[in-house]
Amino acid sequence: MQALKVIIREATKTDFPMIRELALASIIHRQSVSPIRDRTRAEANMRDYYTKLADQGLAYFSPDFEPAAFIALAEEGTRLQPEPVGYILMMTNAEDDLTREQQAYILDIAVKPEYHRKGIGTRLMQRAEEYAKSKGLSYIGLTVATGNKAALSLYKNLGYIEEWRRLAKKL
Ligand SMILES: CC(C)(COP(=O)(O)OP(=O)(O)OC[C@H]1O[C@@H](n2cnc3c(N)ncnc32)[C@H](O)[C@@H]1OP(=O)(O)O)[C@@H](O)C(=O)NCCC(=O)NCCS
Repeated sequence: MQALKVIIREATKTDFPMIRELALASIIHRQSVSPIRDRTRAEANMRDYYTKLADQGLAYFSPDFEPAAFIALAEEGTRLQPEPVGYILMMTNAEDDLTREQQAYILDIAVKPEYHRKGIGTRLMQRAEEYAKSKGLSYIGLTVATGNKAALSLYKNLGYIEEWRRLAKKL
């Protein structure tokens, strides 16, 4: 079987409406909402967030935020498809809560469901790490729901370790 050719590039403003479509298509594959939370509200918030991003691109984030976005494009035959098959959103001016060390932070990552398990998530994560290093950062962090097994495996394979556990209870 021929290997899938994928390129990763920085997202431009015109990519964000397509990123929105991909983000919304990935909703059913996310095991991110805990059993005590309202899934409908979570999905509505996600729609709202990606709709604003689609309209404004990275200008949506406040000026004290240093965001970056990369997309994965796949080749079909010999032609690069214009719609991204994956994206990653990050920022490069986060800090660790305790040490205050500067770090990059992954805000979101998703791969088009038909393209799962082809190494695209790994490539996007690697690109984010390279970008963080190019900014002189020594750490990268993220938050993942404990129920999101696919994402947890992806991160663990790449050497991420668990640092915190956030707990909640419905009263
Ligand atoms: C998480 C996600 C981005 C992974 O993308 P992907 O392109 O399929 O990831 P990769 O192909 O690079 O997978 C790398 C490794 O992660 C693990 N992995 C990925 N998907 C998995 C799954 N469904 N079940 C178990 N392990 C999985 C595997 O170890 C895999 O390596 P392998 O295929 O050689 O066994 C994708 O599942 C996705 O878009 N999910 C919905 C959005 C989401 O939950 N984002 C995370 C927000 S925190």
